[in-house]
Amino acid sequence: MFGYGIHHCLGAPLARLEGEIAFRTLLERFPDLAPAAEPESLAWRESSLIHGLHRLPVRF
Ligand code: HEM
Repeated sequence: MFGYGIHHCLGAPLARLEGEIAFRTLLERFPDLAPAAEPESLAWRESSLIHGLHRLPVRF
């Protein structure tokens, strides 16, 4: 997720902290947040650098 070896992401601890705060806040504000698509219908990005979905529909 944050690269490997000597180029491992310098900002990884900050990014993990930001992610923890962002997702905790999101779930506090929208406690019923849930996926709005079947897992097999989701499309993944092709990039080998940044892993992730093109889009993740949710309902709240
Ligand atoms: C979710 C957020 C982030 C992701 C997914 C991410 C991902 C990555 C990845 C995959 C690399 C390795 C690139 C390579 O191998 O060439 C990298 C490198 C780097 N990242 Fe991040 N990063 C994030 C946030 C941050 C933040 C917040 C900072 C700084 C405040 C940062 C600073 C850097 C730097 C300086 C490098 C280069 C390290 C080197 O080449 O020695 N990143 N990051």
